[in-house]
Amino acid sequence: MLLITGATGNVGGYVCDLLCLQNQPFLKASSRKRDDPQTRWLDFLKPESFHHALKGITTVFLVRPPALANPGRDMLPFLTACRDQGIQKIVFLSLQGADTIAVTPHAKIEKRIVELGIPFVFLRPSFFMQNLTMQQRADIRGHDEILVPAGRGQTNFIDARDIAESAVKCLTDSALRNRAFTLTGNISYTYDTVAELLTQALGRPIHYRKPGLLPYIIRTRKKGHPLGYAVITGLIFTMARLGKASGNSQDMVHLLGRSPRTLEEFIKEHAPLWNPNM
Ligand SMILES: NC(=O)c1ccc[n+]([C@@H]2O[C@H](COP(=O)([O-])OP(=O)(O)OC[C@H]3O[C@@H](n4cnc5c(N)ncnc54)[C@H](OP(=O)(O)O)[C@@H]3O)[C@@H](O)[C@H]2O)c1
Repeated sequence: MLLITGATGNVGGYVCDLLCLQNQPFLKASSRKRDDPQTRWLDFLKPESFHHALKGITTVFLVRPPALANPGRDMLPFLTACRDQGIQKIVFLSLQGADTIAVTPHAKIEKRIVELGIPFVFLRPSFFMQNLTMQQRADIRGHDEILVPAGRGQTNFIDARDIAESAVKCLTDSALRNRAFTLTGNISYTYDTVAELLTQALGRPIHYRKPGLLPYIIRTRKKGHPLGYAVITGLIFTMARLGKASGNSQDMVHLLGRSPRTLEEFIKEHAPLWNPNM
């Protein structure tokens, strides 16, 4: 049986949709207790939830919640429980570059999964296109601006739906184990170009502001996010500023046998979401 963590999130939600379409049996994990036979209570910060959540589970789709910034404290106890309960595979939603940038929470989680000897697939995606319709939506819709500290660095974007389809392949194909896949779109863009693509699709000027790391962290805190989230996301955008988020990989083409969705298609499809009158 599959257990999908992050089931209400960007990628986990699409993973659940695709598993439903394929009639694959699975359970959703929820950090809140629910009276629902398809859902198991699992809070990474509450070890008392682990045993029941993992009962009868063979394979886990693992998402690190962005707010949990200290993997040693927040995530590793759950990984130990997975080993102790005989989980046969973890498909972990990691991060592009986690194999080389050891300070990221994702690199620490990958390392621990390997140390525990749990068979794995690491999915290392570039930036989600959905950031533009989620985290950055209010700035684009209400203020016609993008405010991320990525400078003039190039960023690669992938659609969370493509990550989810890759994840479902890795969850359901038993031959895929002890592998890592870097999942990217085919083109990388500066945020100036992203602003230009939005300008063309929306018919009004969208500006890319280039805040420094500290102003970004202060602003993200003011929006109500925890400090750990503000710092980690700020550092991830800084990786983009330093040119470390632009690599393109063909791993998704090899996994799914098709090209990734493009940012241009994504922006056209989602244009109504940035309309201030809707
Ligand atoms: N955004 C990007 O561009 C990008 C790029 C590469 C990698 N990533 C990585 O992808 C991962 C997911 O990021 P996201 O922004 O898409 O987040 P998300 O999956 O949309 O949301 C976080 C999920 O975590 C669950 N959650 C929160 N607190 C929890 C807890 N204490 N215990 C168990 N589950 C909990 C939430 O479920 P409930 O509703 O049940 O609380 C929610 O489904 C992160 O590790 C991020 O670093 C993101």
